[in-house]
Amino acid sequence: MSKITIEIIKLRKKENQKLTMLTGYDYTVARIIDACGIDIILVGDSLGNVIQGKPNTLSVTIDEIIYHTKCVSAAVKNSFILADMPFLSYQISERDAILNAGNLLKLGGANGVKLEGGAELKDLVKKLTQYGIPVAGHIGLTPQYINSLSGYKVQGKTPEKIKQLINDALALQESGAFCIILECIPEEVSKIITEKLEIPTIGIGAGKYCDGQVLVINDLLGLTNDFRPKFVKSYINLHLQITDAVIQYKNEVLKSVFPDAQHSFNLTEDCLKDLQMEYKTK
Ligand code: KIV
Repeated sequence: MSKITIEIIKLRKKENQKLTMLTGYDYTVARIIDACGIDIILVGDSLGNVIQGKPNTLSVTIDEIIYHTKCVSAAVKNSFILADMPFLSYQISERDAILNAGNLLKLGGANGVKLEGGAELKDLVKKLTQYGIPVAGHIGLTPQYINSLSGYKVQGKTPEKIKQLINDALALQESGAFCIILECIPEEVSKIITEKLEIPTIGIGAGKYCDGQVLVINDLLGLTNDFRPKFVKSYINLHLQITDAVIQYKNEVLKSVFPDAQHSFNLTEDCLKDLQMEYKTK
């Protein structure tokens, strides 16, 4: 296996080979994801939800993304590390955007950045790519627009909205984006976008026609037992397994079953005898 680059990512589409992406936020899990040969690890601002317990991603800061990108970078050998640009880290000024994106590479060790938005980001995407910062686009349900979108809803359901999504995708490609995330749109719409683009589309809730798929790792692992969107597939129920393990541990401690001899350290017999003499213990 070798390090995944934007060249390899773009080649996959030409060779009709699917791309795999998962979110990752910490060293231990990123190490597993990387070793499994997942192409791209996204340090997503979804960490606001799954790591910080916030109701949305809006409060996530650039420093928090840099911190988690560093944790992921420490583990990764081959996967492409994509870091999310959080809300207001790229909208205020071009200077801020370049500095923040640059720091995700420079301090975090990311290989590229992801921005939510469409044609309005054309100039910025062009600038970032010109300065050596690979950019992934993200259109459809863009969680940073939660307030404007009035909730987490499937996007691209009317002819005008579909046209807008196609234009956004083409604009991002023209500006130099190396791939585009399509979130929560009907699969017939992602099929058209995927066919129109030369760069890969990576879907989440966007159906089977995308060039690749992404899931939030906590969802894939079944770590939460609350609301699960229709597009989420959990491959294991870790919530249940962790609950069982923690309860078993608690009961064993309460009953003095743990730690047993196998998990304790002992002195040599001579040393123990001396100790019992000196301290008059049994
Ligand atoms: O932040 C994130 O995890 C994302 C994915 C859901 C695509 O943007």
